[in-house]
Parts: sequence; structure tokens; C-alpha cells
Amino acid sequence: MASSASGQQPPKPNQHVELTICTDDDSAGRAARVFDEQEDDEARELLLDVADSDSYLAGAGSSAPPKIRVRGLRKRAASTGEEILRGVHLDVPRGVVMGVIGPSGSGKSTLLRALNRLWEPAPGAVFLDGADVCGLDVRALRRKVGMLFQQPAMFEGTVAYNVRYGPQLSGKKLSEDEVQSLLRLADLDPALSSKPANELSVGQAQRVALARTLANDPEVLLLDEPTSALDPISTQNIEDTVVRLKKARGLTTVIVSHSVKQIQRIADLVCLLVAGEIVEVLAPSELSRAKHPMARRFLELS
Ligand SMILES: Nc1ncnc2c1ncn2[C@@H]1O[C@H](COP(=O)(O)OP(=O)(O)OP(=O)(O)O)[C@@H](O)[C@H]1O
Ligand SMILES: [Mg+2]
Repeated sequence: MASSASGQQPPKPNQHVELTICTDDDSAGRAARVFDEQEDDEARELLLDVADSDSYLAGAGSSAPPKIRVRGLRKRAASTGEEILRGVHLDVPRGVVMGVIGPSGSGKSTLLRALNRLWEPAPGAVFLDGADVCGLDVRALRRKVGMLFQQPAMFEGTVAYNVRYGPQLSGKKLSEDEVQSLLRLADLDPALSSKPANELSVGQAQRVALARTLANDPEVLLLDEPTSALDPISTQNIEDTVVRLKKARGLTTVIVSHSVKQIQRIADLVCLLVAGEIVEVLAPSELSRAKHPMARRFLELS
């Protein structure tokens, strides 16, 4: 168990959300998935109407709460009672990219999903800007905390329909220019705008899901292996987008990745999750100094 102290970055103005349904299947190489009817309803509910590492680790002398604070977060599998998260403690300073790495099944996706209440954490376990998320309106929370899942899922309709979805719920219709800018931001050809979303490759759908999330202008981006189906060039472009949004808008990002190299390229801090516990929080350049035996083994083989 470990936690970083909070850092300080300029606060960021109003935002909104996105939220899709998730599955944890490995999506690489499969065609883009469209929500089935039940998921579609659920997803529409969820979709909203919507520095430097040393100073982060040192706390940067700020008394402001971290963007996200996790304290003693626990989760058991309903079916088996098996402990998935065993008292996670973590602070994510505002305006940083926090990497989450760890073995498959260690609880990374489960942790991410607690941050915007895709499952209900216990009161006093997850805080956004110092406020217990359990006390927030869930839609308001998801307006601020957007998420991309391991397997992207598209709504039936065009790419533009998907990108416009969140703002439309709060009465804003994005212009074609705005849709195309968002597609560019997500490293997509703007000409895809009129293409049916169910005809996309997984890699394209992953980027449309990113554009759809960014359309809601979130304060926090939760990314669960967002480049797992992308080629190296597109991966680099998405990484650049994440870093650019951090610098330009103070976006806070929590990114789960199996690529230690990716985390070293873009993260300000990295936490190692092993068997439902955070065993280290480090600067990416310090990963080789991780002490936990499982973490060491994981890193050596990565
Ligand atoms: N809804 C669920 N019900 C029961 N067990 C679950 C559920 N979701 C996840 N688990 C279990 O919790 C553990 C952690 O799962 P999780 O998906 O969070 O792991 P992960 O670290 O994201 O793995 P991966 O790297 O493979 O994506 C696994 O043992 C998984 O089987
Ligand atoms: Mg996962």
C-alpha cells in the first residue's frame, strides 16, 4: 500500500462527461462492437446529458485536495466473495497523468470503475476534489469523469452521432466542424464522420470513443488500455493528445496500460497494483527501483 501526496496544477473550468458500458474482453483484432439493446439503455443512462514527478510525490506544498483521493477501497466478487480490491489508497494530483500498471486480474479495471461509480464504493472511499463521490449526483460525477473502456462500444448510428451524443443530451448540438475537430484530436480522419459506427475497426472505434468522451469536455479522463488495438503511429498520436490536453486544459488522466514503455512516455506518476493492492507509487523513471517482489517480476518481464 502506498499513496502519493497531492500536487497542484491550475484548476480546470467546467466540463461534462461520457460513459460507456464496458466488458473486459480483449478487443484486439475484433470488429467494433455495437451495444445490444439492454446495454444501449444502460449506456444511454450512463452517457451524460450530459510538472514533474518529484514535485507530485513531494506534494508540491499545496493544501488543496488531490483531484482524486482513494482511501481503503475494497471490492469483493459478488459470486465468490473473492477480494478484488483490498483496501486501495491512492492520491491522483490534479492535472497529472497517473499510470496504473500491474498483472492481469490485479484489479486495475475494477479500480478505475469505482472512480465514477460504475460500481458503488463504500462512503468515505473515493473523493473527487475532496468531495465523497457517494454524495455527488452520479450524472454530475460522470459529467466530470469520462471513461474509455478496454473494449469500445458504439451506439447504432454514424460516427458523428456517437461524437455528438453527450453534448446533445444537454441540449448542445455540435457543428460538423466541431465533430471533425474532435475526430482529428482523436487521430481520426474527419471524413469518417458520416460512416456507420458499426463498420469501424476496433482501433477506429477506440478513437471514436475517445472523441465521444472528449466532446463532453471532462475534468478527468479514465483510460483503460486505450491504445490496445492501435498501431504504433496512432498510439503515439493518442499519447500526444493526452499530454496536450493535460498541458492545455489541466486534464487529469488515469491510464491503465500493459505497456511500461507507454507509461514511461506519458505518465507523471505510476502506481503498481498487485493482487488488489497498490504496492508502489513512483515516478516512471524510478520504476526500476520498485521493491515489491511481484512488481519487480512484472517489470522485469514487461
Ligand atoms: N463483475 C465481476 N464479478 C466477479 N469477479 C470480477 C468481476 N469483475 C472482475 N472480477 C475479478 O476481479 C479481478 C480483477 O479484475 P479486473 O478486470 O479489475 O483486472 P485487471 O487488472 O483490469 O485485468 P486485465 O489486465 O486482464 O484487464 C479478476 O480476478 C476478475 O476475475
Ligand atoms: Mg482490465
